[in-house]
Amino acid sequence: MSAQILDGKLMAENIRAEIKDEVAKFVEETKVQPALAVILVGENPASQVYVRNKEAACVKAGMKSLMYRLPEETTSSELLELIGKLNKDADVHGILVQLPLPKSIDEKKILDAIVPEKDVDAFHPTNVGLISQGRPNFLPCTPYGIQQLLVRSKIETKGKHAVIIGRSDIVGKPMALLLLQKGLGGDATVTVCHSRTANLPEITKQADILIAAIGQAEFVTADMVKPGAVVIDVGMNRKEKEVVDENGEKKLVNKLVGDVDFESVKEVAGWITPVPGGVGPLTVTMILYNTLNGARRQVAAR
Ligand code: GUN
Repeated sequence: MSAQILDGKLMAENIRAEIKDEVAKFVEETKVQPALAVILVGENPASQVYVRNKEAACVKAGMKSLMYRLPEETTSSELLELIGKLNKDADVHGILVQLPLPKSIDEKKILDAIVPEKDVDAFHPTNVGLISQGRPNFLPCTPYGIQQLLVRSKIETKGKHAVIIGRSDIVGKPMALLLLQKGLGGDATVTVCHSRTANLPEITKQADILIAAIGQAEFVTADMVKPGAVVIDVGMNRKEKEVVDENGEKKLVNKLVGDVDFESVKEVAGWITPVPGGVGPLTVTMILYNTLNGARRQVAAR
């Protein structure tokens, strides 16, 4: 048996088409074009790719993308000054600071400076608190994208045991909160595992829905997965892999792999997301959605 593939790329295209229509309607009604400001500090190659994807997706959906590419040496006070300016700018509806920031900068201090109304990543403590209470302003993009993937694929979460591996503020913790919410895409029983969890495979094998967000290449193997489980792979890791080329010769290539050993796990799981083409495209899509909703609320409050 081989698992059904959850095609995040195709689903992201469908959701982006919906967002594009909604943006066009919003622009017609309000004469306001939703705008996302993205700040990238330094030269991190992965961040540069993510930021380029966000910019292209924004423009394609009919929104404005304002890119701020700043040098590695940028100081905290320079960054805070830029954020202060964007906070006040009525033509900017979403502000996103791409992480990780250079080590010399206090990340929390920077993220806390973004006004919650424009915090499309939902990293501000006010937004985290509202999510935790089940009255969200914005939903964090990766967990939100995963929830959409489950709901739109008609995968039931109610009463299911969801096991999350990873306790990050960006994925693990907010994912647990979303799956705990009452209603569609929620009502799950949630376990959060991490690097100090004892007997990890015993717990992951109980999962109806297993979400891997640990940042370790091909960490989840077939023996850790219950037959028929839904496996969601949030990982984006680079790994040297042996492949056979067109002349039948083995060679090493640097490949993008997830936190799940796709080849073995797909023989056990019922559903599985690939890497690339799974969760990643949905994360970018939900940023667009949050920017549009931010614009709606900010225009309504004028
Ligand atoms: N870096 C990795 N993931 C994310 C994300 O979701 N948002 C931001 N701003 N940076 C990231």
